[in-house]
Amino acid sequence: MKVELADIKAQHKPIAQEIKDALANVFEDCRFILGPNVTALEQEVGELCGAKYAAGVNSGTDALLIALASLNIGPGDEVITTPFTFVATAETVCQLGASPIFSDIDPATFNLDPAQLEARITPRTKAIMPVHLFGQLADMTAINAIAKKHGLAVIGDGAQAIGAKQNGAPVGTATDITTLSFYPTKNLGGVGDGGMVLTNDEKYFEEFKVLRFHGSGGGYFYKRIGYCSRLDEIQAAVLRIKLRRLAAWNEARKANSTRYIERLKDVDTIILPTTAPGNDHIFHQFTIRVQGGAERRDALKAHLAAHEIGSAVFYPLSIHLQGPYASFGAKPGDLPHSEQITNEVLSIPVHPDLTADQVDFVAETIASFK
Ligand SMILES: Cc1ncc(COP(=O)(O)O)c(C=O)c1O
Repeated sequence: MKVELADIKAQHKPIAQEIKDALANVFEDCRFILGPNVTALEQEVGELCGAKYAAGVNSGTDALLIALASLNIGPGDEVITTPFTFVATAETVCQLGASPIFSDIDPATFNLDPAQLEARITPRTKAIMPVHLFGQLADMTAINAIAKKHGLAVIGDGAQAIGAKQNGAPVGTATDITTLSFYPTKNLGGVGDGGMVLTNDEKYFEEFKVLRFHGSGGGYFYKRIGYCSRLDEIQAAVLRIKLRRLAAWNEARKANSTRYIERLKDVDTIILPTTAPGNDHIFHQFTIRVQGGAERRDALKAHLAAHEIGSAVFYPLSIHLQGPYASFGAKPGDLPHSEQITNEVLSIPVHPDLTADQVDFVAETIASFK
């Protein structure tokens, strides 16, 4: 039985006609950039995430860039973030000439450990940028309290967390600015690149709109140096169709996770992922830790592949140890949890189109790994 890590073909099958009809309408209308579907999607995603304002942009990476630029973060500034993330989180800080300052994670949740943060704050710190990794929010009560105490802004990288909540509050209310990615394999994925920047503060929203449109203050008059980063109608039309299914898809991911936990709870070669109290985790990834380090992890990955089961290592090397990012002060050994976790993690299929038999087969195959 073949089990894909992500199965976009299966996801598209039941909605193929709806997508074709929506695309036909886009071509009829021919307003390809920031058209009516983008406006509607901004409102619908904003509502889902508890944000009054939302701006569709080219990608989750651009969403981060625009979020940072809206805070006027630039040369000489520092942004504290996690080293255990997709590279875009730190990359965008660097693109603006600022420095990412890496702070260690809590190995139980893979997210920033608030207890480590204050030691990283300097007079140059402008913002904290937690990532809500794999679909659960970082500890925002603690992180926001630290930010408030030190007068720092908070940007939440919610690329993997659309629909997630903490203590009942949706992801878009957790930070001053929240960013989303619509990369095709995300819980809400488009048919190309796409992203969104969310906020409840109108002044940031005004900056998002200026920044995504070449810095224009209106027409061909420019307030600041901006970007060409607008969401297009094709993406928005498809995303709106998928958005109507997102709650059900996220529930299916949670059900698959619950089933894995039940099936794997006594398997001592691995450590199962945990959900922090108060979190509604949407399981963008179901990421186990393999006891014994990278070699054992890679051996389990090969064992799964031999049984035609997809898996992936998100992420194999902590960002602070990677070429261009090694010059921002964190040395090998400084962030031990992130460094250890990168040797242990393995993400297994959890997507909503898995059958119960497939989940059981993956669990049995893991259990048979000796
Ligand atoms: C945590 C995180 N941040 C940022 C991004 C960047 O999003 P995109 O690929 O849409 O640019 C991604 C997605 O790959 C991500 O997983």
